[in-house]
Amino acid sequence: MNAELDRLLARVLAKIDTDDPRLAEIIRAAVTHLHAFVREVSPTEAEWLRGLDFLVRTGQKCSATRNEFILLSDMLGLTSAVDEVAHPGPPEATPSSVEGPFHSPAPPRPLGAMIAEGPELGRAEPTFVHGRVTDCTGKPVPGATVDVWQADDAGYYDTQDDEQPPGNLRALFTVGDDGRYWFSSVLPSSYPVPTDGPVGELLTALGRHPMRPAHIHYHVEATGFRPLTTHVFVAGDEYLGSDAAFAVKDALVVEPRRTRDGVLDFEFDIRLVPA
Ligand code: BEZ
Ligand code: FE
Repeated sequence: MNAELDRLLARVLAKIDTDDPRLAEIIRAAVTHLHAFVREVSPTEAEWLRGLDFLVRTGQKCSATRNEFILLSDMLGLTSAVDEVAHPGPPEATPSSVEGPFHSPAPPRPLGAMIAEGPELGRAEPTFVHGRVTDCTGKPVPGATVDVWQADDAGYYDTQDDEQPPGNLRALFTVGDDGRYWFSSVLPSSYPVPTDGPVGELLTALGRHPMRPAHIHYHVEATGFRPLTTHVFVAGDEYLGSDAAFAVKDALVVEPRRTRDGVLDFEFDIRLVPA
């Protein structure tokens, strides 16, 4: 107990004077938790300034194509925590997962298109990806849009790699009356999140690896349904149990199967929740 700290917190909370009740609730909770943190940790002034310097450098690392704060939130499991509270879904629905920092507008492509158009084509395992977009009872959702993006076999997105043509390994599909989507690609690989900034320093200091298990990102939209942002993960990946972004859910892990003509077949059905 520290009566001076109690009085200080009460005085800060008393300054919250807004007509917006949600803003008041959020700031009250944030201030209360941050004061509790200071009480618990008793930081020295040098430690506190070091923490603030870390946040300043995190902001300075941000640019039009990089958001180090989102990465920090991802690496601390906070993005997944927000995802969990923001998207409660029935157990029959496909679970959501974090968007990550690498989404960019995808080229619309016809169903069945090959989305791998870069140097990965000659190197990586050809993979046929397909599934159905349905409601939670299994009824097709015609006209749903399926936006997919993935890294190549070296772990890079087109936006990080001059060797890949723009829009490589990305596509926006519109499903037909049967709700089906299908496309050809290459098997993604596990890859490290960017480590050349303050978040990378933090991972190193904490003895953590920066790896994400191999995955394909999805953003699915359809009239009358909640938009869904999620991933499908490749079963067997060595990082499934230690994803740096804490984004793996069991229902999102799929085993690729070898077809008779030697191609890998990767099937991921999507069950949407009504809006
Ligand atoms: C990604 O999968 O694109 C990603 C997600 C969270 C942090 C970094 C990368
Ligand atoms: Fe990713």
